[in-house]
Amino acid sequence: MDDPRDHFGALIGDTPLLELRRFCERRGLRARILAKVEALNPAGSIKDRTAWGIIRAAEAEGRLVPGQLLVDLTSGNTGIGLAALAAARGYRAKFYLRASTSHEKVALIHRYGAETVPIDDAEFLAPGGVDAIIDRVRRDNPDAFYTDQRANPANPRIHHDTTGPEIWRDTDGAVDILVAAIGTGGTISGTGRFLKARKPGVTVVAVEPAPGSVPTRERPHVDTVEGVHRVTGVEAGLLPANFDAGVVDAFIPCETREARAAARTLAREEGLFAGPSSGAVLHAASVLAGRREHAGRTIVAIVADGGERYLSQDRADEIESAVERP
Ligand SMILES: Cc1ncc(COP(=O)(O)O)c(C=O)c1O
Repeated sequence: MDDPRDHFGALIGDTPLLELRRFCERRGLRARILAKVEALNPAGSIKDRTAWGIIRAAEAEGRLVPGQLLVDLTSGNTGIGLAALAAARGYRAKFYLRASTSHEKVALIHRYGAETVPIDDAEFLAPGGVDAIIDRVRRDNPDAFYTDQRANPANPRIHHDTTGPEIWRDTDGAVDILVAAIGTGGTISGTGRFLKARKPGVTVVAVEPAPGSVPTRERPHVDTVEGVHRVTGVEAGLLPANFDAGVVDAFIPCETREARAAARTLAREEGLFAGPSSGAVLHAASVLAGRREHAGRTIVAIVADGGERYLSQDRADEIESAVERP
């Protein structure tokens, strides 16, 4: 990115696209799938962009002072990106996250010197749960800067200004379909908006958890994928403000076991070890690439982070059996 005075910020973005040639050939898929490899950001995920966008905007607005406490509600990756930037720029940081967040993500946040506060998953599932948690976070930290990845416009803006233009540049404008997961909606809304403005025919597709992989109050402990949230059927008022429903043309459902299997396949067939949200995105991309009308099209799949930060979630019985077979 563009600030030559800041070495950490300057390392964020400009991630490469990897064509998944073997994956497509083995399945007879006639579209081209390009993976945007966001694990190559300095703190390891697409959320480094979000963190940098939010901090840069807040600094420009004069909202941060040295030693300032940053707080947010995060599935881990935003916390990791913000914690790294806070360390690099002299702020403190504290993140509220689901108790089920992977151990690796929590450990990484601590390594950067930030604090974490676990919140029981059931609290997120209660009606109005997320809003109640946000109210409490604000109340408990009255002097902190609430980075607010769910509603801060700097989140989608950084994707509009960097992720989208990089995809446009690196495909020479050939991108036809963008596939991404929805957490805050920042990635899909900002990137999708940019690409559609350049080329109105671009289709934007979101992957969502299939019904069997959505936790409910009755079944709060189903295996879920961090960073993949359901949007269809959810009341608009409960969705993150940064999710722009107008940008998304279609949704493809994915069970958690399909996401984990696709992530394993990606490692074995392409040597790219990605996290389960990327597995979900790849699952959706391969469904799209298999459709006759998409022959010859270029699909860009957002590979949000690396698989290392989820290794402790592996279950021994899944490792061999859950690899997708072409
Ligand atoms: C691993 C992972 N993938 C995808 C996403 C979705 O990104 P966004 O919040 O921009 O919608 C997130 C964030 O929630 C994430 O942590």
